[in-house]
Amino acid sequence: DLSPIDKAKFVAAKRAADLVESGMRVGLGTGSTAAWLVRCLGEMVRQEGLKFKGVPTSTRTAALAREVGIEVVSLDEARWLDLTIDGADEFDGDLNLIKGGGGALLQEKIVATASDQMVVIADIGKEVETLGAFPLPCEVIPFGWQTTKALVEETLIQMDVLGRNTTLRMNGDAPFVTDEGNYILDCHLKRIGNPRQLAMVLNQMPGVVENGLFIDICDIVVIGFGDGRVELRD
Ligand code: A5P
Repeated sequence: DLSPIDKAKFVAAKRAADLVESGMRVGLGTGSTAAWLVRCLGEMVRQEGLKFKGVPTSTRTAALAREVGIEVVSLDEARWLDLTIDGADEFDGDLNLIKGGGGALLQEKIVATASDQMVVIADIGKEVETLGAFPLPCEVIPFGWQTTKALVEETLIQMDVLGRNTTLRMNGDAPFVTDEGNYILDCHLKRIGNPRQLAMVLNQMPGVVENGLFIDICDIVVIGFGDGRVELRD
């Protein structure tokens, strides 16, 4: 028996799984909602003979995909993808996103951008009017990260954001390290007035590898509700 939140994630994932057809190359997202998707797709491979190539966006997702019987290939093998299905931490009315709560934003953005279509699966709790209540993850290289952090904070002061403090994401007593060997700065902004501008400004700073704002990348959001309903936004 699933809790309402897990039920919402599951029904969204299940609906999105139906978009996958044999012969496709499909980006597989990261996080608890994307894990439901990977399990659904695994079942379709085993029970219905679905045949597709999956490109995972993290070592976690790669392990789960293999475990459930999905054929896993690298992005370099697949090159371009038909579809990517991934979760999100927030989505707004323009289908812009904050991602990276699980720390996989860099691979997720590369894979989503290489796809003809990006479908986000999310429970209704992820919908926001304005992005930014969820801390914006920013991936930075370890070299000089404290200098980069100070630079990011200084830049935030000049932007239309309410909060401007950033914290280094930790894993116990040590910094959290991404699949690419980088650190994550979580930017506590509260409200991002101009996400497009902020995304560009952050990525221009030396030391910043990528940020969790996905602008004009998502095509459809499949929203799950605790009572099992599903709604599509596009
Ligand atoms: C992973 O880095 C993230 O971008 C996830 O897609 C996001 O955090 C959503 O995760 P949940 O589905 O677990 O909420």
